[in-house]
Amino acid sequence: MRQATLISPRHIEFSEVPAPEAANLGEHQVLLRIKRIGICGSEIHSYHGKHPATFYPVVQGHEYSAEVVAIGSAVTVCSKGDMVTARPQLVCRECNPCRRGQYNVCEHLKVEAFQADGAARDYFVVDDDRVVVLPEGMSPDWGAMIEPASVGAHASARAGDLKGKNVVVSGSGTIGILVAQFVKARGARRVLITDVSDFRLSVARKCGITDTLNVMQTPLEEGAKALFGEEGFQVGFEVAGVESSIRSLMAGIEKGGSIVVVAVFEKDPALSMFHLGEHELTLIGTMMYRHEDYLTAVQMVSDGKIMLDPLISRHFPFDQYDDAYKYIDENRGTAMKVIIDL
Ligand SMILES: NC(=O)c1ccc[n+]([C@@H]2O[C@H](COP(=O)([O-])OP(=O)(O)OC[C@H]3O[C@@H](n4cnc5c(N)ncnc54)[C@H](O)[C@@H]3O)[C@@H](O)[C@H]2O)c1
Ligand SMILES: [Zn+2]
Ligand SMILES: [Zn+2]
Repeated sequence: MRQATLISPRHIEFSEVPAPEAANLGEHQVLLRIKRIGICGSEIHSYHGKHPATFYPVVQGHEYSAEVVAIGSAVTVCSKGDMVTARPQLVCRECNPCRRGQYNVCEHLKVEAFQADGAARDYFVVDDDRVVVLPEGMSPDWGAMIEPASVGAHASARAGDLKGKNVVVSGSGTIGILVAQFVKARGARRVLITDVSDFRLSVARKCGITDTLNVMQTPLEEGAKALFGEEGFQVGFEVAGVESSIRSLMAGIEKGGSIVVVAVFEKDPALSMFHLGEHELTLIGTMMYRHEDYLTAVQMVSDGKIMLDPLISRHFPFDQYDDAYKYIDENRGTAMKVIIDL
């Protein structure tokens, strides 16, 4: 079978390697034939050698859809022929967070494509507890996007009950737009999404997030006032990863409000702890997802509550993995989700 290995930054090697055999499957293992792989922002960092927790050489690919080719003797979650996706998290099951059920923050977490090999190959073996079956007829592209959608499912749930609340999502990249859609689907009153790029905001509108604000033209305080009026906003999502973004969220949010920090900051922002205390704000972390978030994401995508097609920029065949990264580099402002077809 074909395999693409990121040997070192900017160096993908294609090789023919033996395919895993159905006869050797463990009783809880599933053999997959990979169909589509989405490239995510963190993998772009790994490709450029700028991801601090990537071990090279590594096989990338952790957002994927696949067909079940064979199952181990004890597998009941899926059958041969099913279209599935699977969580890329390898966890220890023994540490305190794992025992509490918070295995997404396992003390020994390994994520496929970063600290363990991922799915950039024709066949891939996964444990059945990470597999989620896709509804009949769901596009394989959508299947590959359940992973980022699950980030949105988890992040939006971290904010607690959103019903009747006004929400600002700062950052209209793939993740921000997904977060905003989940926030809406979970019953928020109004959702304002912001960015510094009109293009990114136009994609958000295509996904049904109608209230958008370019904070280069109108500061958040002014834009939020115009939309929410005296109601203000009670919840914020920081999905841009820049200091000015979280600072304006903290400055603008109603007293007692909560901000979920989704973005990974390259540089830690300087924030006023005095303001945080005086306004009794809550800052909330969020880390990937758990199995139930995958289930929620599949359900909401399948119900049409979460739109994915406007987020897909381009497809590349497997043997042009490098070209996909080149395309992303050359189209920083406009490239959103890029998908590899196997
Ligand atoms: N917590 C998690 O589990 C998790 C999972 C996946 C991704 N992430 C992180 O989420 C973040 C977003 O991911 P993405 O793929 O959408 O990235 P992205 O770079 O595509 O999106 C960020 C967006 O923020 C915009 N932006 C820049 N400055 C801004 C400002 N001042 N105000 C508002 N918007 C501004 C950019 O124009 C861009 O559209 C990244 O930091 C990523 O690492 C976190
Ligand atoms: Zn990812
Ligand atoms: Zn653990």
